[in-house]
Amino acid sequence: MSEKAWKELEEKCILCKNCKLCETKTNTVFGTGDKNANVMFVGEAPGEQEDLQGEPFVGASGKLLDKYLTVIDMPRQSVYIANILKCRPPHNRDPLPEEEDACIEHLRQQLKLVDPKIIVCLGRVAAKRIIKPDFKITAEHGKWFEKGKYLMCAVYHPSALLRDLSKRKEMLSDMFEIKKKADELNK
Ligand code: URA
Repeated sequence: MSEKAWKELEEKCILCKNCKLCETKTNTVFGTGDKNANVMFVGEAPGEQEDLQGEPFVGASGKLLDKYLTVIDMPRQSVYIANILKCRPPHNRDPLPEEEDACIEHLRQQLKLVDPKIIVCLGRVAAKRIIKPDFKITAEHGKWFEKGKYLMCAVYHPSALLRDLSKRKEMLSDMFEIKKKADELNK
C-alpha cells in the first residue's frame, strides 16, 4: 500500500481532536510493524510508556508480549501492532465508549491499509469492540471468529498475564494456535 496513504493517516491521527484525550497525551501512538503483515494485533490504548515513547506495547506488558511473539517465531517486526485508542487515557483507565467511537475510524483505515488475514485482539476491550460486544475473554479466548474477510480471535491482555501467572499456559497455547493458523493461510 502507498506510503502516501500511510503518511496521511498518521498525520490525521496526530492532529486528531475527536475526543479530549488529545489534550492530555504526550505522543500519539499510531501503530508499528510490518505494514504488509498477515497478522495484526490490536490492543486497548497506550499506557504510560507508550505515551512517552509514541509506540504501542513498549512498557512491561509489551515486553511480555514480545516474549510470546518470539517464542512462536512471529517477531514484533513481522506483524502489525496498533490499539483501539491512539491517545492515552489518564491513569490508564478503560477507554470510554465515546473515545472508542471517536477513534475507531483510524483503526479501520489502518486495517484497510495493512489488509491482514488474521486480527488478534489483545484483551477484553479490543475483543468487545472488534469481535462482538458480549465477548467473554475467559470463556472465548483462543476461539476463531470469521467476520467479513478476516479471521479473528482474542487472547488475554499481556497486562492480565503480569497479574495472574496462571493464565500464561493458556496464552502460550493460544499463541501457538495463531502461528499455526497464520502458517496454514500463508501456504
Ligand atoms: N496496553 C495496550 O492495550 N496497548 C498498549 O500499547 C500498551 C498497553
